[in-house]
Amino acid sequence: MVINLKNIKMKSLDKDSISDHIEEPNVIEVKNLTKMYSYGDNEFAALKNINFNVKLGEFVSIIGPSGSGKTTLLNMLSAMDRPTSGQVIIDGNDINMLNNSQLAELRNLKIGFVFQSFNLINTMSAVENVELPLMIQNVPRKERLERVTDMLSRLGLSKRLNSLPQLLSGGQQQRVAIARALITNPKIILGDEPTGNLNTEDTENVMEILDKMHKELHNTLVIVTHNPDVADKGERIINIKDGEIESIKENKKKV
Ligand SMILES: Nc1ncnc2c1ncn2[C@@H]1O[C@H](COP(=O)(O)OP(=O)(O)O)[C@@H](O)[C@H]1O
Ligand SMILES: [Mg+2]
Repeated sequence: MVINLKNIKMKSLDKDSISDHIEEPNVIEVKNLTKMYSYGDNEFAALKNINFNVKLGEFVSIIGPSGSGKTTLLNMLSAMDRPTSGQVIIDGNDINMLNNSQLAELRNLKIGFVFQSFNLINTMSAVENVELPLMIQNVPRKERLERVTDMLSRLGLSKRLNSLPQLLSGGQQQRVAIARALITNPKIILGDEPTGNLNTEDTENVMEILDKMHKELHNTLVIVTHNPDVADKGERIINIKDGEIESIKENKKKV
């Protein structure tokens, strides 16, 4: 998004407005969330009574071992699945109250998702992959191409615009996927093990890019990982084990 500074009236600062701490609203609220899976006659709780909020503009990491319920949780934060009980409220919308097409609209307007395995369309170039969410929003072709070229360039891919995914390295493919997630300027970016398929160098590179774009675009970032180095990039770290929150810690290094 290009902000024209000329059109922004600067509010004069007085003593009160300086001392006032601006409290960002919660963009994600999770209340008493439980998710059950059934196997024949048996039921298994993948998430048990989860409670937490995420503020607009925050960068939260969720860390836990394999099988702890991270993907199950993220699928609910992205409105891909519904709670068995409890609430997930995305930017004021309780997902229990929305039908499937409303959930799809909520996802398209408010959420960008980055997957472990990139999930790019192999027959489409980098530009075409990143264009897709804008096509769904009926953005005209000229504007689409401008925005996509700009975003891919900001992510260091200006020489790769027309490359098919298979000609790109893992790190480059994930950067295309990040561009696709960011292109509609959603309030919320969710990542499920976004570095899980990458080597150490690409992991650092992808985390740097996510961190940089988070700072530039002021979106809300929630990353699920089992890698402590990746989790350490967050401002707050939620530890999850066996479907329960073990701890929530402020990451002092980041604040
Ligand atoms: N669709 C499903 N049906 C039944 N059980 C599932 C399903 N998805 C996940 N599980 C189970 O729920 C638990 C948590 O899985 P998951 O959320 O994928 O964990 P993580 O992402 O932390 O590895 C695991 O025991 C897994 O086997
Ligand atoms: Mg998982």
